[in-house]
Amino acid sequence: MAIRLGDTAPDFTAETTEGTINFHEWLGDSWGILFSHPKDYTPVCTTELGRVANLKEEFAKRGVKVLALSVDPVDSHKGWVNDINETQNCTVGYPIIADPERKVATMYDMIHPNALDNLTVRSVFVVGPDKKVKLTLTYPASTGRNFDEILRVIDSLQLTANHSVATPVDWKWGEDCVVVPAIKTEDIPAKFPKGHKVIKPYLRTTPQPNI
Ligand code: BEZ
Repeated sequence: MAIRLGDTAPDFTAETTEGTINFHEWLGDSWGILFSHPKDYTPVCTTELGRVANLKEEFAKRGVKVLALSVDPVDSHKGWVNDINETQNCTVGYPIIADPERKVATMYDMIHPNALDNLTVRSVFVVGPDKKVKLTLTYPASTGRNFDEILRVIDSLQLTANHSVATPVDWKWGEDCVVVPAIKTEDIPAKFPKGHKVIKPYLRTTPQPNI
């Protein structure tokens, strides 16, 4: 069955380029991102894995651990990582799951046989410190993902978790946020001392609280 937002991210133990990992133990209290690729030594995947490696500091700043998956074995991943480092000017510093038996891929419904036979599509799962799934995304093999967008969603998720605000359409870091409906308008001044606007009783905005 498909994994839905709010579900507990299924736990697993898998072989990776950095040894055996138990997903929940490896996550600890961190946020995490699990993302799949169709196959080793493929062009779009090579650019994606390089980009994620070069975003290391952005993920670290947000307390997010990164875990990739491809259905090829560890030896193949290790050879491919050399190519990624060479061509994308990076150092891949996160584990890549080897899933030749498709155990994790099946658990996470990453194989969409009508799109790509027996290979994983480009799935993304963002998991919170509570191990709940906060975001799911599915891209086709032919389209590289936009990791700036994935970081933007993580910023939004963390604002909601830590500051009781949501983010409006096309929100970017530094722009006004939306006060979540659970907060009464009369309680806003105490909770959001930077100020607020009541545009409609259900649409209240405040400057981004954590900057
Ligand atoms: C790629 O990563 O370039 C790719 C992988 C599978 C199908 C199409 C493209």
